[in-house]
Amino acid sequence: MAMATSTMLEVAPTALSVRPRPDFVETPSIRELTGRALAYLAAGFPVHFRGPAGTGKTTLALHVAAQLGRPVMLIAGDEEFATSDLIGGQYGYRYRKVIDQFIHSVLKYEEDAAQRWVDHRLTTACREGFTLVYDEFTRSRAEANNVLLGVLEEQLLILPTMSRDDAIVKVHPDFRAIFTSNPQEYAGVHEAQDALSDRLVTMDLDFYDREAEIAITTAQSGLPSEGATRIVDLVRDFRASGEYDQTP
Ligand SMILES: Nc1ncnc2c1ncn2[C@@H]1O[C@H](COP(=O)(O)OP(=O)(O)O)[C@@H](O)[C@H]1O
Ligand SMILES: [Mg+2]
Repeated sequence: MAMATSTMLEVAPTALSVRPRPDFVETPSIRELTGRALAYLAAGFPVHFRGPAGTGKTTLALHVAAQLGRPVMLIAGDEEFATSDLIGGQYGYRYRKVIDQFIHSVLKYEEDAAQRWVDHRLTTACREGFTLVYDEFTRSRAEANNVLLGVLEEQLLILPTMSRDDAIVKVHPDFRAIFTSNPQEYAGVHEAQDALSDRLVTMDLDFYDREAEIAITTAQSGLPSEGATRIVDLVRDFRASGEYDQTP
């Protein structure tokens, strides 16, 4: 008897190993923000950095995630997302083929294919106790994000697989979540995320102070600090003028 079992299409999500970036600029205000976020995370609360584009939310989220020292699952919010994009679903087939040639003259041929469940990032993060960084989560529709309510409130992830006894995943104690979002006036941002937002410790980020902006611009551009200072002052004046469509 020959048996061949093969699994077609295996899409296991990849965890990132995030290290502190060497050019990360840490001014006293950024250090204070990082410390506060880490204190909330240590106490088990999910944190949420909210602010306009370019205020350093994504950079800060990854910086904080790096300090936790756990593998990171990064998700970027998307209008097209359904819950299955976060948790996983029945994908592909487990494929089994039995060829029975026990009796020389008879060839028994059996084939069956069972759909199999594949974990996506949220499920993997919950099971393994990874750090979830959900960037721009309000770009996803609120319905897609609803599954997070149980994760954050009851530490339970419910998978919609009726036939499985392991449809409930108990969230690993090391699981932590960091969210970012833009304020709602931005195009493509969904409003009805209140139930979720209520469960997050929200920290509002504004543009960094002049010193931090100069330090970041110097680090990123490699310009001498006088050049960076002139650029930063120009942009800050323009921002203060309010005469723009898109925040500089
Ligand atoms: N603390 C920081 N140190 C170094 N670069 C930073 C820092 N914060 C932000 N930046 C840089 O500023 C730019 C905007 O930051 P980003 O995190 O993408 O903002 P947001 O996610 O709020 O739109 C990026 O190029 C990023 O590398
Ligand atoms: Mg960002």
